[in-house]
Amino acid sequence: MRIRAAQPEDLPTLQDIERAAGEMFRAIGMPEIADDDPPPLADLERHQQEGTAWVATTETNETVAYLIADHIDAGLHIDQVSVHPNHGGKGIGRQLIDHAAAAASTNEITALTLTTFRDVPWNASYYERCGFRTLDDYELTPDLTAIRNREADHGLDRWPRVTMRRQMIS
Ligand SMILES: CC(C)(COP(=O)(O)OP(=O)(O)OC[C@H]1O[C@@H](n2cnc3c(N)ncnc32)[C@H](O)[C@@H]1OP(=O)(O)O)[C@@H](O)C(=O)NCCC(=O)NCCS
Repeated sequence: MRIRAAQPEDLPTLQDIERAAGEMFRAIGMPEIADDDPPPLADLERHQQEGTAWVATTETNETVAYLIADHIDAGLHIDQVSVHPNHGGKGIGRQLIDHAAAAASTNEITALTLTTFRDVPWNASYYERCGFRTLDDYELTPDLTAIRNREADHGLDRWPRVTMRRQMIS
């Protein structure tokens, strides 16, 4: 598996990966998430141009996973990490997160953050095993609060959500 920066021609494939990865939520009674639209191409393009979109490719050069992030609060906020379910459970998600962490540390970024579902087995508990911890409400910065509010407006707070942080530099 190789991780590299996303290229413009990758972007439609990232939408396909997102739709396929979203199907995991249908099996656990969250069809609304499965049916949610993938990030718009313009959004993916912005991440790609800002250098905060990475993809994982197989030996046969198939793009099977991606991670997009945003610079917020002297940190890197993971907007989305998705692995095509045909390639799930092989550590690709971890590799992408570690790649983003390495990119962040070379830019003197102090932390990785993300928001996720508290009770979905491959979300909060998985990220804990990847070195993230759940933040208390009082620890949320204005930027993180704004992200949570946007997600609530989008209906994601129908299920318990958490904000998580992985410290990079103490
Ligand atoms: C979350 C995701 C990116 C992980 O990618 P991955 O390459 O499969 O990740 P890894 O191989 O590193 O690890 C998979 C982990 O998820 C857990 N997992 C996967 N499927 C699971 C399932 N159906 N039930 C319970 N746990 C599951 C595994 O136990 C494993 O954790 P562990 O290695 O610590 O035991 C991927 O499952 C995915 O794209 N999910 C759908 C989209 C999503 O939820 N994205 C994150 C939004 S915040």
